[in-house]
Amino acid sequence: MTTHANAPARIGEPLSRVDGRLKVTGHARYAAEHPVADLLYGWVVSSGIARGRITAIHEDAARAVAGVVEIITHKNRPDLAGSDSAYQEQVSPPGKPFRALYDDEVQFSLQPIALVVAQDLETARYAASLIKVEYEAAEHNTDFRAAQAERFMPSKKRNNYLGFKNRGDVDAGMAQATHRIAETYHMGVHVHNPMEMHATTAVWENKDSLTLYDKTQGSQNTQTYISNIFGLKSDNVRVLNPFVGGAFGSGLRPQYQVFLAALAATMLERSVRVVLTRPQMFSHVHRPEALQAVSLGTDASGQLTAIRNEATTSTSRFENYMENVVNWGLMAYACPNAAGDYTISPMDTYTPGDMRAPGAATGMTLFEIAMDEMAYEAGLDPLEFRLRNYSEKDAMNDTPFTSKALREAYAEGAASFGWDKRSMEPRSMRDNHELVGWGMATGMWDAMFQKTAARAKLSANGNLVIETASSDIGTGTYTILAQIASDTLGIPVDQISVKIGDSSLPMSPIEGGSWTAASAGAAIEATCQSLGKKLLDAAEKVRNSPLEGAKFDDVVFDNGRIVSKADPSKNVSYGEAMAAAEQGSLEAEETVSAGISGMISQMRKSRNTHSAVFAEVKVDEELGVARVTRVVCSVAAGRIINPKTARSQILGGVVMGIGMGLHEETFVDHRIGRIMNHDLAEYHVPANADIHDIEVIFVDEPDPEVTPMGVKGVGEIGIVGTAAAVANAIFHATGKRFRDLPITIDKIL
Ligand code: MOS
Repeated sequence: MTTHANAPARIGEPLSRVDGRLKVTGHARYAAEHPVADLLYGWVVSSGIARGRITAIHEDAARAVAGVVEIITHKNRPDLAGSDSAYQEQVSPPGKPFRALYDDEVQFSLQPIALVVAQDLETARYAASLIKVEYEAAEHNTDFRAAQAERFMPSKKRNNYLGFKNRGDVDAGMAQATHRIAETYHMGVHVHNPMEMHATTAVWENKDSLTLYDKTQGSQNTQTYISNIFGLKSDNVRVLNPFVGGAFGSGLRPQYQVFLAALAATMLERSVRVVLTRPQMFSHVHRPEALQAVSLGTDASGQLTAIRNEATTSTSRFENYMENVVNWGLMAYACPNAAGDYTISPMDTYTPGDMRAPGAATGMTLFEIAMDEMAYEAGLDPLEFRLRNYSEKDAMNDTPFTSKALREAYAEGAASFGWDKRSMEPRSMRDNHELVGWGMATGMWDAMFQKTAARAKLSANGNLVIETASSDIGTGTYTILAQIASDTLGIPVDQISVKIGDSSLPMSPIEGGSWTAASAGAAIEATCQSLGKKLLDAAEKVRNSPLEGAKFDDVVFDNGRIVSKADPSKNVSYGEAMAAAEQGSLEAEETVSAGISGMISQMRKSRNTHSAVFAEVKVDEELGVARVTRVVCSVAAGRIINPKTARSQILGGVVMGIGMGLHEETFVDHRIGRIMNHDLAEYHVPANADIHDIEVIFVDEPDPEVTPMGVKGVGEIGIVGTAAAVANAIFHATGKRFRDLPITIDKIL
């Protein structure tokens, strides 16, 4: 379906990306691509040890290289804010945030310990290779199993991640069960590998101000962070991220390259660019490692009688990073007795961080492998087993959902996949020499909403500018905001310019948690409605106005005209209205927030997206190769603003889920505490040849309550459960149960 540039777009229409042409023609500029005069280049020198102290840095040879401007280390850096709180930002976990080049302490392998600044990138890189560092190494541990000895539960006080609630008596429920399973599941560390690596171009202006083009998911979060550390007025730090080359959480926290670029620029009073290398990406941004022990019991009919869901995930020694890992298993299914436990295990690494559906991608996925095991133990079809334990309400909080169309998602997904043709017995389906397996899993994620502001300006020529400091991390924010404005004010998309990715724009949260469509979308809608009211006021000033006395709800805004619903012949063009009101332009600004009433209803109702994922694998047992030949991901996520960009989000999530199931894994040499497969040649993510047929279904799920527009968000739900559907399909194909992801060739053989 094509949209016509000269007609307004509608919410619910598959509008193509409004920034698509800029992206495919290379005109979309990323953080390291903005042209700046007299630019210097910084190269990061990374620590060779995982823990200890720097005793000497030999810089002479590097300083002697022509073109080297400065070498910045903890010894010669300028004064910086000294308190931990200055380094804390919107998503800092509790603890002592990492401060690059602060002192001689080394806390993780590849920690940045110096920045070589030179006239060009090659010189900086070469000079960096000449720096010799001496250390006093301390003992380190990067082995998650060994870290179990130190695992602990942080203070429960105000800790959202320990907010799971137990119910009933799990021991009694387990004792009365006819069928039981108790297994432990493991998932290794995943590292963020966006196309665009972390990069910052710091533009030097004067002592009081700084402009930063940064690879970030939140320009205003970075703005606060940098202004606090460098003692600059917040308004004088401008952070721009008009385009972001992929980010799934790695850009939520300001990463060390933005600090280093700002440090070098303020110290040298020059513009400086710092870009991390792919191996340096493996020094910091990662999903924590996880061990999850699940015990389940059912009665003879397959009704769950007990759920025990206990997890531990890795963290650093300096921050307590946690996620919602175990709550999903307690929320998803009806069962009178359920209990969770969650601890963290500190290691000598950088602090783990959010990575697409943080917590759920781990905790729901591993739980759903256990659910498949339980279904087989109870002798039930895996889908039938889930339906038998379907919970209409949030089983952990005992609260209703604002909506839950998971039953429909199961039904439509199963029908499209052909689940009813599945034979229960493992190893019972074949395609020539390959074993065929069909598996399924449930997915869950939150439907969140954040306070967001927006501004809109309509010019007399009919052009509309809409603004909010939100980001487009590749998800389609530009497109859906243009679409919402187009629909609300009846203005064609090609007359709308969307301004985002700039900290000087109206307040917007970091783009994460799948809340942007709901939150920034509602802010744009409210702002455009407010502008519409101003237009209607202006239309009343037209002589003998046909809209005399009309209320906002009596009119529609259609293709540049305010039109009476009752009598479409009564209408006024925006130009006429603005001329009559003697206004060259009209502006509106609005802020949307959940407010007190929203917070109260939030306490009484649960807000979630759900999915049913069905996967087909073909396994060649002689080669140990499993291929995911078909996936149907059936999603219940409220109102879908744009089925095209939303589908792309689910496709991306499913691809990442296939990677979790079959490919993604880090290998650490614990003697030096470093990930050894630190590039895309050896850290495997799915390639084109690994991806076959993926079908995305959005089931109808009207929900006027969940967020102002009824939108739940789709950025993350696609990854949740997908790896479980793959693992369960491999069990069905081979009869072998895999409890350690990814399921690589060596394990299948
Ligand atoms: Mo997503 S992990 O909230 O960027």
